[in-house]
Amino acid sequence: MKFFSSVALFLASLATANPVSHNGPGPYHISEFYASKIHDSGTCIYDFDVTAPGLDGAVHCHASVDAGFSGATWLAYVYEGAGNCNNSAVTWTFFQPASPVGSDAQFNVTVNGVKRRRIIPGSDISVNLNNETNPFDNDVYYSGPREFDITESVNN
Ligand SMILES: *[C@@H]1O[C@H](CO)[C@@H](O)[C@H](O)[C@H]1NC(C)=O
Ligand SMILES: *[C@@H]1O[C@H](CO)[C@@H](O)[C@H](O)[C@H]1NC(C)=O
Ligand SMILES: *[C@@H]1O[C@H](CO)[C@@H](O)[C@H](O)[C@H]1NC(C)=O
Repeated sequence: MKFFSSVALFLASLATANPVSHNGPGPYHISEFYASKIHDSGTCIYDFDVTAPGLDGAVHCHASVDAGFSGATWLAYVYEGAGNCNNSAVTWTFFQPASPVGSDAQFNVTVNGVKRRRIIPGSDISVNLNNETNPFDNDVYYSGPREFDITESVNN
């Protein structure tokens, strides 16, 4: 009995240390990740490639979304359906709260119905005000690693 309960504890600690491997196929690999607001415009452009188990080669994803105004200090919300990919098995969303400035963003990627999430730290999204007296003259862009894995599983 003691043996079995310690085995159970051991398995439970494995599950806690590595929750992802028990939930769907392996990580989604993102490369060439680009997200940037166009200067003097509210439009934000997103581009990246994703490879994942169950996909036949790389899939390219893109979005062009309006952040609301050209002085935005955040990256625009890519709601479900606002982005597109060259393979309909992949969908994605991106959200960075407008305030406080420099908030963390959520980047969700769904492949064949299985959603994974990456929290992008606010420190990986640069805001350059350029001209303190002109609130429209700013730049906002992703400045973190362009290649990364998305491992966290989340409920749909
Ligand atoms: C989709 O994009 C990827 C990555 O850019 C490319 O390798 C692939 O050929 C594209 N597939 C289609 C169907 O256009
Ligand atoms: C990402 O998925 C999580 C979990 O389902 C959800 O709470 C969050 O709102 C999603 N974020 C975006 C940007 O869709
Ligand atoms: C900063 O913005 C103000 C107001 O639009 C403008 O008059 C000024 O020329 C700008 N300064 C520079 C260096 O662009």
